[in-house]
Amino acid sequence: MRPVEIKEGVFWLGAVDWNRRDFHGYSKAHKGTTYNNFLIVDEKVTLIDTVAEEFWGTLQCNLAQVLGDRKIDYVVANHLEPDHSGCLAKVVEKYQPEKIFTSPMGQKAMKAHFKYTDWPVEVVPTGTEINIGKRTLSFLETRMLHWPDSMLTYCPEEKIAFTNDAFGQNWATSERWADQVDRYRLQELMANYYANIVLPYSPVVLKTLATIKEMGLEIETICPDHGLLFRGEDCAWAMEQYQAYAEQKPKNKAVIVYDTMWHSTEKMAEAVACGLADEGVSVRLMCMKNNHHSDVMAEVFDAAAVIVGSPTHNNGILPLMADMLTYMKGLRPQNKIGSAVGSFGWSGECVKALTQWLEDMNMEVVEGIKNQYVPDHEVFNKCYEQGKAIAAAIKAKL
Ligand code: FEO
Repeated sequence: MRPVEIKEGVFWLGAVDWNRRDFHGYSKAHKGTTYNNFLIVDEKVTLIDTVAEEFWGTLQCNLAQVLGDRKIDYVVANHLEPDHSGCLAKVVEKYQPEKIFTSPMGQKAMKAHFKYTDWPVEVVPTGTEINIGKRTLSFLETRMLHWPDSMLTYCPEEKIAFTNDAFGQNWATSERWADQVDRYRLQELMANYYANIVLPYSPVVLKTLATIKEMGLEIETICPDHGLLFRGEDCAWAMEQYQAYAEQKPKNKAVIVYDTMWHSTEKMAEAVACGLADEGVSVRLMCMKNNHHSDVMAEVFDAAAVIVGSPTHNNGILPLMADMLTYMKGLRPQNKIGSAVGSFGWSGECVKALTQWLEDMNMEVVEGIKNQYVPDHEVFNKCYEQGKAIAAAIKAKL
């Protein structure tokens, strides 16, 4: 895609990665992604972030289209993860900027990653302002949103916030603005991104949103480094979404995530789902053989209850469930009710092991059910009643 002038003298330059499906090695990007970066043409030509290394050709081409032979004076590195700093070394080598601005932790990351000796790096802690001509840029560190180096760059004259990963979505599109695409899909992809990348840092999100309010930053444009940009009333909409995501208020929804060997655990899970659904809870039944852990997390993140299922395997649980639970625990979901089901042949450790994971995630546990060999009607009834009991716990929580 060619550069887009998002405000007079301010350009989107990013790269659209239509074929990206694996995002950072742990999450799925079913609709591809974009690496957004931005160029402000002022007395000091300022580049904000770069793109993934494989798009170096795209970045050079975009820069040439906007700048011709003019040079880049300043570079702002909001975040050092390689999808945004992948071309930083090449930019420094080719364009030799006068200054590179980054956060205090950004400088450490930059040094460790690029091992530079003579880059003109200038650290800009929160509150620092720089003048680039007609415009100024100020910086707000957003440590652990989602890396220690992360920061936000704000241009008061344009009322633009360059927010890096925050407010991002994995969506490769020819459109650049949120108001040009389907809102429901945008919301879904934004939530998916949050659930898999930002969720553990929800307290930082709440703090950052409060700081933006306290500072009275007027924001008319939000420029994340992935996906669509927000303008006008959509800025408030995006911030409201983030406030709600970070508060993690549960919805009347349960996710049953399981794996199964000979379908006994699966049938128990289905019976639990029936009990929940009959009490009016919206249920997602997700088998780990058919769902990626990041897609499961996108459903878990706003659910009130998580029911986990596995048969006993080698005195523990099936490996796909161990993967799922490891991933889920790392993302630190809050305010959940948890329960477990599982079948077994002889030793029967599954439910105990699954319940331990739920307790480790501070979930409010509803006692699980295990069954030896093939479940019969009596077991299905117990599972159905368990679903109803979980539904009652959900209602008490909402
Ligand atoms: Fe989009 Fe944390 O990199």
